[in-house]
Formats: sequence, C-alpha cells, structure tokens
Amino acid sequence: MAARPDPVPLLDAGFPHLKSRVIERTGHFYYQDKDDLLWERVRKRLRATGLSDSSAYLTLLEDPISGPAEWGKLEAEITIGETFFFRYAEQFAALRATILPEIIERKAATRRLRIWSAGCSTGAEPYSLAILANEILGESLGTWRVSILGTDINDNVLKAARQARFGKWALRSMPDEQRDRYFLNTGKEQWEVRREFRSMVRFERHNLLSLLDGTSPLEFTDFDLILCRNVLIYFHPDTVTQIVGALRDRMDEDGWMLLGHAEPNPVFSTMMQTLNLPGTVAYRRGAGTAPLSTSAPLQSKATLQDWRPLVPEPRPAARAQSSTQPRLAKAAQKTSFPFLPEAKGDLLGDIRTRANAGDFAAAAVLCGKALATEPLNAALHFYQGLILRALGRSAEAEKSFLKSLYLDKNFAMAHYNLGLLLLDEGKPAPGRRSLTHAAQSVAAMADDHPLDEGDGMTAKELRDLVRIHLDMATPSRRKA
Ligand SMILES: C[S@@+](CC[C@H](N)C(=O)[O-])C[C@H]1O[C@@H](n2cnc3c(N)ncnc32)[C@H](O)[C@@H]1O
Repeated sequence: MAARPDPVPLLDAGFPHLKSRVIERTGHFYYQDKDDLLWERVRKRLRATGLSDSSAYLTLLEDPISGPAEWGKLEAEITIGETFFFRYAEQFAALRATILPEIIERKAATRRLRIWSAGCSTGAEPYSLAILANEILGESLGTWRVSILGTDINDNVLKAARQARFGKWALRSMPDEQRDRYFLNTGKEQWEVRREFRSMVRFERHNLLSLLDGTSPLEFTDFDLILCRNVLIYFHPDTVTQIVGALRDRMDEDGWMLLGHAEPNPVFSTMMQTLNLPGTVAYRRGAGTAPLSTSAPLQSKATLQDWRPLVPEPRPAARAQSSTQPRLAKAAQKTSFPFLPEAKGDLLGDIRTRANAGDFAAAAVLCGKALATEPLNAALHFYQGLILRALGRSAEAEKSFLKSLYLDKNFAMAHYNLGLLLLDEGKPAPGRRSLTHAAQSVAAMADDHPLDEGDGMTAKELRDLVRIHLDMATPSRRKA
C-alpha cells in the first residue's frame, strides 16, 4: 500500500532561524539535530496562535509586548519535566547521611539553611528536600529558617508545583506510611503536600541561562546546597560547564552541589572539590585542587570516603569478584605476563591523587610508568584514556580506550567513555556503536549491579544514560 502524503509540510524556510533562537534562549542544544521533534512542538503553537509559518511565529516571539508570554508557552511545550519524589535513592541517602548533617552542624550558630532546586519541574525534588530536612531536624525544625527555592523555565510545571498535588506515579518511591505523614489524601488518587512542608518551599520562574548573561537575580546566592539534576543533559557541553561554574559561584563558601547522575566529567573536578559518597558523586565549592580539609566535621565518617572525581576508587566488593583482577589474570594466561597486584594498587593510588588534584600531566606520566610494568592492565589503559581526554589529547585517549577494550571486550565503562569521546569528536556512527556496546555489555546485569571503574554507577544507570545519549545523537530518534 502506498504511503499517504503528509498533509503538513515537514519544515518551512524560516525554521532554521527559529530553531537557533530557541536553542540560544533555552540552552536546549538537544534539538540541534531533531528538527522533526522541535517542529512538531512549534506546530502546536502555530495552531494555537493561528500563525502560518516559522517566520511569522518568530516575529511574534520577538515582539516586546506579546513575545515574553509566547516564549513561556513555547518553553513549556519543548521542555521535558519527568520527576518524582526521592529520585535517585543514592543521592537522597547521601543527603540524609552526610550532606545535610554536615551543613546543619556547621550552621548551628545561624540556624539558617538555604537550598536551591534548579530545574525543579513540578516540585517533587524541592518537596522531597523539605521532607528530608524535617526528618533530620526533627523537633528543632521550628528553630531553623529553612528556605528551599524551586526554579524552572516552564510556567506550567511551576503552577503545578505551587498546587503541590501529586498522583501515585510521582509518589511511587515513597512508602505509604511516609506519604500519609507528609501529604493529605485529597481523593481521586491525589495527595497534597501538608501546609507546614509547603511553607518551606517557594517557586520562581528562572532560566538557567540567565546565570550566564548577568540577568539572574542577585539574591539567588549563598546556597548551602544546590541540586541541578536531569536538566543539563539537554545542553551543549560548553554551556553545561559554564552553568555549573555559575551555580558554584552562587553557593556558600562551604556549600554542596548535586548534579544528575551524569558521566564522570573531569572538568567539574577542576572547578570544585569532588567527593565520592556511596553510589554518587557530590561537589563542594573550592579550588578543585585541594582535598577536603581534614578538620571538616564529618571527614572521619565512613561516608566521606575519598576525594576522587576522575579516577574512581576500586570498589572492594565488586573488585574482589571480578573487575580488573580477572582481566589481568585472563591477559596473563594468554601471554604469561607477570601479575603485579600490589604494585598496581600503589600506582593507581598515586595516579588518582594526581588526577583528582587536577594535575593531569603528572597523572599521565604516572599512568605511563604504571603501564610500562603492567601493559596488559585494562583498567590502567582506561584511566589513561580518561586522563588524556582531560588533557585534550583526544586521539591518544581514543587509543587508550581501544587498548583497554582489546584487553577486555566487555569493559562497559571503556565502551561508554569511548562512545562519548567519539561523539564529541564529531564521529556519530562509531560513537553510537560504542555506546550500544556499553549497554549490551551490561544488558544481563541486575539493575543495581555496580560497574567496574564506574564510580558508583550501576548497570541500570548506564543503560539509562546510553539511552539518553543515543537519543541525543540520533536525529530520527525521539525522546520517550
Ligand atoms: C527532567 S526535569 C528534572 C526535574 C528534577 N530536577 C528531577 O531530577 O527530578 C528537567 C526540568 O528542567 C527544566 N529546564 C529545562 N531547561 C531549563 C532552563 N534553561 N532553565 C531552567 N529550567 C530548565 C525543565 O522545564 C524541566 O522541568
């Protein structure tokens, strides 16, 4: 049967200009190669406004009187607001066990707590923080001034956030008992956040890009904690770095930041202190080159393990079962090369210390030395790839990742980082292939299986990340 012609032309001549304005204004570089998806959303606004093409619509957007309201409607159309309470259990565990107790202890004199949920969508994230603050502060909550700011570019989600009513889906991770303590059942499978927790949270419209052009409100400052999760995945990597830097500047001197469970980004570790908490990475304001002060209140707690953004600490449990050891053993069987576990441990420690202090050149030299004694160590080649990438030596980094994969073809994090590198290098086809291999190599693993050299990343998180990157790297694919 012959395909029916599409009654609406796919794109019009003014669309490219409209698209670049949309990306420029929202940061959503995601749409760069997704004309059909963006067009579908723009078309809804064309229908609503009765305009016939992109150029007429852009004229409306640029109109000083009606433009701002129409921008709001278009922004609401093109943003993706999936969220739910206590999303990323590991991050909320870190907030409960380490981050909030550290802040509360340090702020005991002023009893003032300032939190910003940037890109908060319908409010599940800031309300989860209010609930958590209440649970931690207990009866002393009343003696504290806790202010939680939720911001978003999308007016519709902010309206819903202020109503504070949620359905089962947004509450899916909460036990009934906790839900009943913090919400009122309003019937029809809807629950409303109780007034005392709503009063801790306020919402404001805010475009993260305004942090870069000086128009962001100056009172958005001195935050003890900033969460900006699952927002920056849609932005160009350079914009991400700039926004993370600007958010850092809005933090209190000792403030904390949690980003989405993203791929290890060596740049962030040069901008901030990076702390590995169980299952997640947290950032603290600081030069990024000095380790956390040994006098920090919770430094001795087991949860503040180390200072290691770029080169992950070996995970003892996972490492004992599989990891590098079998990789080395397998390789050694093939070639009779000596297996040097102790030496490897020391060298890796030194490499980590250097890399995590931002001294990538020294880390690369040490890695080279380590590889001279252990040329069949897949993990070392992988770390060398990460370090070379941080140094901007992409071609060499690519070779290092390939070597680690030659030694262990199922090394998921190597496939993944190679894929990201290739995409960055403008090589979409091999980049997508590597990402697909990464997902395939963890396909049979349980969701919570921690990945070797994954810095706490689980099999499910990698599968999810690969899906997002493939989606962004493949013009014809759509966001689910
Ligand atoms: C996927 S939701 C994440 C919600 C929440 N942070 C979480 O992780 O559950 C992303 C949110 O970021 C918002 N967003 C997208 N671009 C933005 C921008 N330029 N400035 C502020 N918010 C933005 C979207 O409107 C959306 O509500």
